[in-house]
Amino acid sequence: MSEMPRTTAESFRPHVAAASPLVRVRGLRVCYGDHEVLGGIDLDVYRGETMVILGPSGCGKSTLLRHLEGLAWPVAGSITIAGVEIAKASRRELARVRRLMGVSFQSAAMFNSMTVGENVALPLREHTDLADSTIRLMTRMKLQQVGLSGVEDLYPAQLSGGMRKRASLARALALDPEILLFDEPSAGLDPIIAAGIDQLILRLKEAFRMTMIVVTHEMQSAFLIADRMCMLDQGSILAVGSVAEIRAHPHPRVRQFVRRIPDGFDEGSTGYITGFEG
Ligand SMILES: Nc1ncnc2c1ncn2[C@@H]1O[C@H](COP(=O)(O)OP(=O)(O)OP(=O)(O)O)[C@@H](O)[C@H]1O
Ligand SMILES: [Mg+2]
Repeated sequence: MSEMPRTTAESFRPHVAAASPLVRVRGLRVCYGDHEVLGGIDLDVYRGETMVILGPSGCGKSTLLRHLEGLAWPVAGSITIAGVEIAKASRRELARVRRLMGVSFQSAAMFNSMTVGENVALPLREHTDLADSTIRLMTRMKLQQVGLSGVEDLYPAQLSGGMRKRASLARALALDPEILLFDEPSAGLDPIIAAGIDQLILRLKEAFRMTMIVVTHEMQSAFLIADRMCMLDQGSILAVGSVAEIRAHPHPRVRQFVRRIPDGFDEGSTGYITGFEG
């Protein structure tokens, strides 16, 4: 992906003024049994912006994405995407909203019994009436877009983890989505490929004004690609703001996360303290 132009989030200005959010989450509460994972969160994501979701492992980031995708139903609260409230939508409306979204899962979930090409072509086969030859061409283009060529006839098991991740992104992009949900795009990738994914994300938002919700633990990547960021912790959103606002945020948990300070470490001194609860 070395041919990708180097760009930064600074060169992009989302059109957020006065517009209603493309994705609107209100009072979203999710429980698994007695375990409350999301405790009534509110979040707005505007057309054309990249919202990065930060937060410790197990805080509910993937859960939030699954609910945005309409794969699971909350205990309470609402999710409205492109003006359609998911829980109240007809099947037809829901299908229309899903068609707007591309999703790349944390696990890069691919069907192992299908070739990479068939995996990427799947949304095109499900949602369009395009001819086989067109689908094959589009599949090749999507794979090229993520820096993968000549792998259509391989099976997912024959790809490296990083290649699988990129193939899963190619599948998410198959229908030219307006909204891309991206769970840990660069986890487990070598730094050069991870940087390539960052550049791809920047290019997608600049070229296509794609709206993206990206979960990542890679702070360098987060600061590069985000227009705004939010931090989830223990079922609540602790902070939402621009990159600069999150960098300078006074909440100790946000500071700790952004500066990669381990639990129990006293920032003001040189060592660990006991009883630190964040
Ligand atoms: N289907 C499920 N059934 C029961 N519990 C679940 C289910 N999915 C997630 N959980 C629990 O919900 C919590 C949040 O999980 P989630 O996968 O959303 O975390 P995450 O923030 O994405 O973490 P990570 O950064 O490790 O990917 C965890 O405690 C997890 O065990
Ligand atoms: Mg997750």
